[in-house]
Amino acid sequence: MREGYEGTGPGAITPDGCAVELYSRLPVGIEPDIIAAAVPAGASILELGSGVGRVTHPLLERGFTVTAVDESAEMLQRVRGARTICSPIEDLDLGETFDVVMLASFLVHAGDVEVRRGLLRTCARHVAEGGCVLIQREGEDYHTNLPRERVDPSGCTLRMVSADPVGDGVNSVYAEYVFPDAVWTQRFLARPLTKEQFEEALTEAGLEVDTYLTPDRIWARAVRAA
Ligand SMILES: C[S@@+](CC[C@H](N)C(=O)[O-])C[C@H]1O[C@@H](n2cnc3c(N)ncnc32)[C@H](O)[C@@H]1O
Repeated sequence: MREGYEGTGPGAITPDGCAVELYSRLPVGIEPDIIAAAVPAGASILELGSGVGRVTHPLLERGFTVTAVDESAEMLQRVRGARTICSPIEDLDLGETFDVVMLASFLVHAGDVEVRRGLLRTCARHVAEGGCVLIQREGEDYHTNLPRERVDPSGCTLRMVSADPVGDGVNSVYAEYVFPDAVWTQRFLARPLTKEQFEEALTEAGLEVDTYLTPDRIWARAVRAA
């Protein structure tokens, strides 16, 4: 396990505390629509932290070519129709570039600054000339509007319970995922980033925001800095 991360519940748990069975049950949301509207049709996509392919599969159905990367072999075993690569994102160096690199699931908020730097450098290293990087950020109230919950179309109650400061601007976030027949929990470290801090982190990695794709600025499209 990564330090500060843990998960409980049935089945395999990834080093960042995610449950493979849980992500197999959660339906995809609006992510594929946002992505498809932001990139050229048929683009090659490097998806970092793909999990079981919740977003990968709808992207394949829309005609994109996807290379799915995750450090969990158990997650990748459930990906169908995409090339899969089992690796920590921060160590990835495929020696090739892609039209689109995707860093979703709020991974850019990694508690460890060095991990975040590594993630963003991987994005910069793998994006083709003229290509783009899509990043999903946390919403501004994610660590303050707590506890909060919503019921997913799958019947899962997703409950964000708490975000406790553990120093250096990092919070230990605790979440519960409750189905009638199973419960999973996850604890993870997340560093809230203002828009300015997010953009500084991109600059450090040689990237810059091209545009925010959603009014809440959760989804950003970045390009190699000029
Ligand atoms: C919250 S899950 C989301 C999976 C998928 N993006 C989705 O939306 O369904 C995060 C995934 O990222 C993977 N992950 C997190 N940090 C990683 C890292 N540094 N390197 C590789 N994989 C990572 C985990 O193993 C997990 O499968």
